[in-house]
Amino acid sequence: MNKIALKTQYNHLKENLLQHNYNYHVLDDPTISDGEYDKLFRELQSFETQYPELITPDSPTQQVGYAPLDEFQSFDHLQPMLSLSNVFNETEFSEFHERILKRLVHEKNVDYICEPKLDGTAISLIYEHGNLITAATRGNGTVGEDVSKNVKTIKSIPHKLKQSQNFHIPDYIEIRGEIFITKKNFENLNYVAKKEETKIFANPRNAASGSLRQLDSNITAKRPLSFIAHGIGRCEGIDFVSLEEFYSFLKSSLIPINRLTKIYSTTQDCMNYYNKILNMREQIPYEIDGVVFKVNDFGFQERLGAVSRAPRWAVAYKLPAEEVTTILKDINFQVGRTGLLTPVARLDPVEIGGVTVSNATLHNIDEIKRLNLNIGDRVLLHRAGDVIPKVVKVVKANKAGIETEIPTLCPECGAKIVPVHTSDLKCSAGLSCHKVQKGQIIHFISKKAFDIDGLGNEIVNTLFTESLLQNPADLFNLHLHKEHIVNLEGFGEKSFDNLVNSINVSKKITLTRFIYALGIPEVGESTANNLANHFLSFSDIFSATFDDLLDVNDIGPKVANNITEYFTTPQMQQLIEDIQKHIEIEEPQVVDLEHQILRGINIVLTGKFETLSREEAKEKLISLGASVTSSVSSKTDLVIAGEKAGSKLTKANTLGIKVISSDKYEDFISRPSNFI
Ligand code: IVH
Repeated sequence: MNKIALKTQYNHLKENLLQHNYNYHVLDDPTISDGEYDKLFRELQSFETQYPELITPDSPTQQVGYAPLDEFQSFDHLQPMLSLSNVFNETEFSEFHERILKRLVHEKNVDYICEPKLDGTAISLIYEHGNLITAATRGNGTVGEDVSKNVKTIKSIPHKLKQSQNFHIPDYIEIRGEIFITKKNFENLNYVAKKEETKIFANPRNAASGSLRQLDSNITAKRPLSFIAHGIGRCEGIDFVSLEEFYSFLKSSLIPINRLTKIYSTTQDCMNYYNKILNMREQIPYEIDGVVFKVNDFGFQERLGAVSRAPRWAVAYKLPAEEVTTILKDINFQVGRTGLLTPVARLDPVEIGGVTVSNATLHNIDEIKRLNLNIGDRVLLHRAGDVIPKVVKVVKANKAGIETEIPTLCPECGAKIVPVHTSDLKCSAGLSCHKVQKGQIIHFISKKAFDIDGLGNEIVNTLFTESLLQNPADLFNLHLHKEHIVNLEGFGEKSFDNLVNSINVSKKITLTRFIYALGIPEVGESTANNLANHFLSFSDIFSATFDDLLDVNDIGPKVANNITEYFTTPQMQQLIEDIQKHIEIEEPQVVDLEHQILRGINIVLTGKFETLSREEAKEKLISLGASVTSSVSSKTDLVIAGEKAGSKLTKANTLGIKVISSDKYEDFISRPSNFI
């Protein structure tokens, strides 16, 4: 390539990155994902390594962040606030470690402080004689914005350092860290923003940065900002030998530090730590985008020094991206088992969080309008853990984009679509829509309902087409059609017998499972259980009034309305009558309070249980008054863990919740006081 072409290509890449820097740091409104930014950045870096004569001082590789906004007083950092270099795999991490050993010449061992990399916004807090005087953003690393007034509204940042026995208060200390918003608080913030039709934030990082840089500190005060310290700047009047010692000073001064911080010295231990954080990512209450490894010894840090924008003594090992951008190819409407239409985004397949994704949920038509989505747009996609991917925002509208047509007829059965509630659409055919019928059957036979083995979606489809299974009650007459069924594709005498056997076994069913199986909108397992324990018999639930239902734990007007509507619909009444002829409902035992030895105890079951199924254990625990939930939180009293317990066990350990092994289950229910 000739010189001019090279320069043009370099400038193009550089300008592109500068624009993205501006969008991210100044507008708090990025138009590419962090992963895509990292990729462009690396491209520029390798370009510059190959042609160092092209480098200009304004290159994003030569600077940090972005110049401060004029609206704020600028603040000159006494020591530059640097960025971090990234590594993306174990080899790159080992190379980082080798480089450090080489530079430290005679050292054989280096301890690393290992901690999550918080996806927030950097802040420098200056305490003089223990009093918080100034707080400044990173800005371009040399000059930041003075946001003292705003920072002083953040509850977890003390205005005064606590005097402790082990350390004296330094004359001057600059504590650096991250301001962020927890995932839960972010959800709440956007929930309110949606309701009040104010700006929706793309992610917690933008929300934190936007909230911090408000001109009116009363607004910042209302935002749920948190802070965790992770570094030190200028310091006078106290000497720390290591980051570890500095952290104990912070701890005793009541400055928040990360509870997950650990110290390791081998690359193997560091990699194990990385994997541990990766596995518990979902359970960490705030968003993280990597793991930071920092040389612990301050003497070593000084000897290692820094390159232009990042220290040599630290590195960020990035986690797989949870956000990527892709093209919206189409929007389809899916009919669910209750007849509600859900818009689904069809996307150009893209890898996110380690899996290829080509669909994302859009919730309802209001969401499409709010996002101003048109087919052909480039959108930002978010996927955390196993949660269904979500379209966050349009990052580049397609000028020739096509507006989504809101269907007027059911895409499955052609019946009219009618609006329900405020922003939902429903197929007006009710149980006559074949998609609703099939959905209802599939729900009825599912694990938490009648739990019928040997009936997958495909077989349901075949039996449905053959008119043998049009509603859940037909299940109990399948045995009358042996000849017809054994001749169907995929069926034989044996599978038929197994199926009939499985159906017969399912006929004896608990009241909770039966209620759940009916598929009343928004009545999940837990609500079904509450209904069963409150009314104790099906006939009482069936005839309960709206007001009776409101007395049940966790049932509000919307669900109460769904229940009364369900039981007063003639089609449903007929269905229930047809099913009841075949089944035997086991009503909950009235256990007197004296026998409810686990009343008020919150238990989570996880992993594989040996002697009994987890479902059986759960039912027993509930009958003893325990509340059995599916996720571990600070409210959990006990986790009973079977084999191969995964993230729930990790979370319980992180939160310091009591855990017992499933083989102690019997001992536990006979004598709970020995365990809790
Ligand atoms: S140590 C020289 N530790 O990441 C900077 N930084 O991309 C040393 N960050 O500006 C920083 N979590 O604001 C460190 N546990 C952590 C961090 C962390 C988030 C931010 C920090 C820095 C940026 C660099």
